[in-house]
Amino acid sequence: MDHRAHPYRSVLYIPGSKERALDKAKTLPVDAIIFDLEDAVTPEEKPAARALLAQTLIAGGFGARARIVRINGFDTPWGDDDLAAIAAAHPQAILLPKVNDAADIAGLAAKLDTLPGCADTTIWAMMETPIGILNAAQIAAAPRMAGFVMGTNDLAKDLGSRNRTAMITSLQLCLLAARAHGLVCVDGVYNAFKDDDGLTAECAEGRDMGMDGKTLIHPAQIAIANAAFAPSDADVDLARRQIEAFDAAVADGQGVAVVDGKIVENLHVETARATLAKADAIAKLEVA
Ligand code: COA
Ligand code: MG
Repeated sequence: MDHRAHPYRSVLYIPGSKERALDKAKTLPVDAIIFDLEDAVTPEEKPAARALLAQTLIAGGFGARARIVRINGFDTPWGDDDLAAIAAAHPQAILLPKVNDAADIAGLAAKLDTLPGCADTTIWAMMETPIGILNAAQIAAAPRMAGFVMGTNDLAKDLGSRNRTAMITSLQLCLLAARAHGLVCVDGVYNAFKDDDGLTAECAEGRDMGMDGKTLIHPAQIAIANAAFAPSDADVDLARRQIEAFDAAVADGQGVAVVDGKIVENLHVETARATLAKADAIAKLEVA
């Protein structure tokens, strides 16, 4: 399965306990939603949130948005009950927090194998512990894996790091593992949800690194992420001209073309075609 065929520019967390926010999400222009039962929900609220979320997912209405449920870990009192409740809603994807190694994924995969209605459910991993980051390659290769979500707040806590620079190695290790195994990789949240300039800069940084998109905590962040992670008009125009110039060069018996003073070889054409495919997938999602 090509997990990256669907756009993941904007991936919004919604606390599973907040009925109003769950409802609002049906109209928000996000590519994907993470319905959270973990840290955004207090222990007291967990049973009610789990039931509300299962009911909400069964009722549907989220259109083409990808739907990912973040359950609690199986080392907590809530993980198994979360999974049992959510399985009834035939979830597209389960996001497991604080994944440390491939055995954590294999454990969830084995549980999904026994649950009716979860045959096609994929697994996403929160990459947010030091040992998890060091084991990124084996986690990415584990059964049912479709994507990584960078848990930069937990990671900063464990590393004692105070800025993004200190996080770059971790982000890149996860990107390498994700790309080696064909997974989606989305960047961590930007906590200051009223700081548009800061979010814009961090989105650009994640995009240039190779991230597919950004996890978000508030609707005000959506438009910025959607714009940052979509091919720009200039990207699409360049891609078209590169393909055209390369095709003309090949027809002329050449293996290389030149566009805007830069060489275009077949590998650049592959990137150009991927850019057009991404723009196309986004356009289709926006009319869906
Ligand atoms: N998803 C969907 N809708 C959301 C939302 C979200 N993450 N966050 C806020 N909204 C909605 C509110 O319900 C409100 O809708 P309304 O106008 O219909 O009432 C509207 O957006 C404006 O919300 P606002 O008053 O600006 O936010 P707030 O002060 O109520 O909440 C946060 C701020 C940060 C607490 C809230 O956005 C939130 O809970 N975010 C998610 C946190 C999370 O999931 N963390 C876990 C992963 S890091
Ligand atoms: Mg976390």
